[in-house]
Amino acid sequence: MTLTLITGASSGIGAATARALSAAGHIVIAAARRLESLEGLCDSLEGEALPLVMDVTDPGSISSALEEAQAFAEARGGIEWLVNNAGAAESAPVTKADEALAARMMEVNFHGARRLMEALLPGMVRGGSGAVVNVASSAGLAGYAYVSAYCAAKHALVGYSRAVSAEMESKGVRVGLVCPHYVDTPMTAASLEKMAQKTQKSPEELRAFLASENPGGRLITPEEVADVIHSLLSEGANGSLVELDGSEPVGNGE
Ligand SMILES: NC(=O)c1ccc[n+]([C@@H]2O[C@H](COP(=O)([O-])OP(=O)(O)OC[C@H]3O[C@@H](n4cnc5c(N)ncnc54)[C@H](OP(=O)(O)O)[C@@H]3O)[C@@H](O)[C@H]2O)c1
Repeated sequence: MTLTLITGASSGIGAATARALSAAGHIVIAAARRLESLEGLCDSLEGEALPLVMDVTDPGSISSALEEAQAFAEARGGIEWLVNNAGAAESAPVTKADEALAARMMEVNFHGARRLMEALLPGMVRGGSGAVVNVASSAGLAGYAYVSAYCAAKHALVGYSRAVSAEMESKGVRVGLVCPHYVDTPMTAASLEKMAQKTQKSPEELRAFLASENPGGRLITPEEVADVIHSLLSEGANGSLVELDGSEPVGNGE
């Protein structure tokens, strides 16, 4: 039984990861900004779970949330696994992008994960064990039109994770990355709504379009991503990167 802190656990991939880890017998700390959603999730889990309010863009919020998390974790073996999943995607043509958009994308998609790693890795290194999985994206490996700031932030997360995993060699701590293509979550639903307003196409047409953009020709399920996160946490080699493109069904996610 391992205790895992998951950011962005109020929705989508993060909530699916909390369910998968809890079903496998692990204790979960489910972090995000929306307490009500986190409480609903934690109540629905069979195992022990702590809902934790944390805004990963706010260092003060992270440190007070981590105090609460460490107090909870103390009697339960400490925080051994970390899933940096909180993220947001905003689109804009580069000709209309601005400073604030770039800052928002970097804060939530890169600096949030960096802050959590900087806070928790020292304890893991001292204990000689631990695992971190960062949820980047195929946008961390390739460029996509109209989401340049999101792509830049996810590339930053991939580069940072690779550098940290090199530092973790021989320290007993493993750092891995998962890079999914389009996943069927509220984030994708919100993007479809926005695209529908801009293009006059229906969200259903656009959904089929996004599915066809994935190499596997279908949207990935959040449960498939959760399965990959779970296996990286439990047995992934340090420096692992899994790109999920919908070509192969994963675990029980289909
Ligand atoms: N959907 C896709 O196609 C796709 C593809 C590749 C990668 N990803 C990545 O997968 C991760 C999860 O996305 P999802 O698709 O599951 O989206 P989602 O359903 O919108 O979930 C995003 C989560 O991030 C949390 N979050 C956002 N801003 C936050 C902040 N400032 N502090 C703390 N938590 C914050 C949200 O919780 P609150 O609002 O309650 O704070 C929510 O729980 C993201 O990093 C995303 O970039 C998604």
